[in-house]
Amino acid sequence: VGGVPPSPQVQYKLSPRVSDTDIKALLAEASPARAMDHDVSRVLSRGLGYVCAYLAGELVGFVNVAWDGGAHAFLLDPAVRTDCRRRGIGVQLVRYAEQLAREGGAEWLHVDFEPGLERFYRKCGFRKSQAGLINLKAAASRNSG
Ligand SMILES: CC(C)(COP(=O)(O)OP(=O)(O)OC[C@H]1O[C@@H](n2cnc3c(N)ncnc32)[C@H](O)[C@@H]1OP(=O)(O)O)[C@@H](O)C(=O)NCCC(=O)NCCS
Repeated sequence: VGGVPPSPQVQYKLSPRVSDTDIKALLAEASPARAMDHDVSRVLSRGLGYVCAYLAGELVGFVNVAWDGGAHAFLLDPAVRTDCRRRGIGVQLVRYAEQLAREGGAEWLHVDFEPGLERFYRKCGFRKSQAGLINLKAAASRNSG
């Protein structure tokens, strides 16, 4: 995709055994606003699979693929450790996520993201679509007010 060369010493594993602590530490470092406060293994057990990237045995990248059980898969929580960015790991994680989704029988892979990441997702092969979102916690307090 877009001529980004894969980093040769990075290893990618599809749905490997991985500790909650390692995933939480990576997300807390790479994406503090999205740090996972749920039970990670419960979240991962409900999806189509996930992809981990390792450099010298350390977890440096992650992405989760959620699924509706049919045609729709959802890319969640892509994260690359700060000191490992801009060397193609993010794009490669998404490529493997695409493979997981395709092999799992999905037809569409969805993602939503903030405007600053448009270039990244375009490089990954996503095209624009309209999407919507409700914050259920905020909506509940609004509705009960
Ligand atoms: C988004 C993220 C996963 C990208 O990982 P990465 O390994 O750095 O991405 P890549 O090296 O594969 O990037 C490929 C291309 O995407 C674009 N890109 C990547 N990160 C970008 C950024 N922050 N801003 C703008 N463009 C970006 C660039 O064009 C880049 O190519 P270049 O380095 O040759 O310019 C990483 O920045 C991250 O973990 N961010 C914090 C968590 C986050 O916001 N996740 C997304 C939630 S929707």
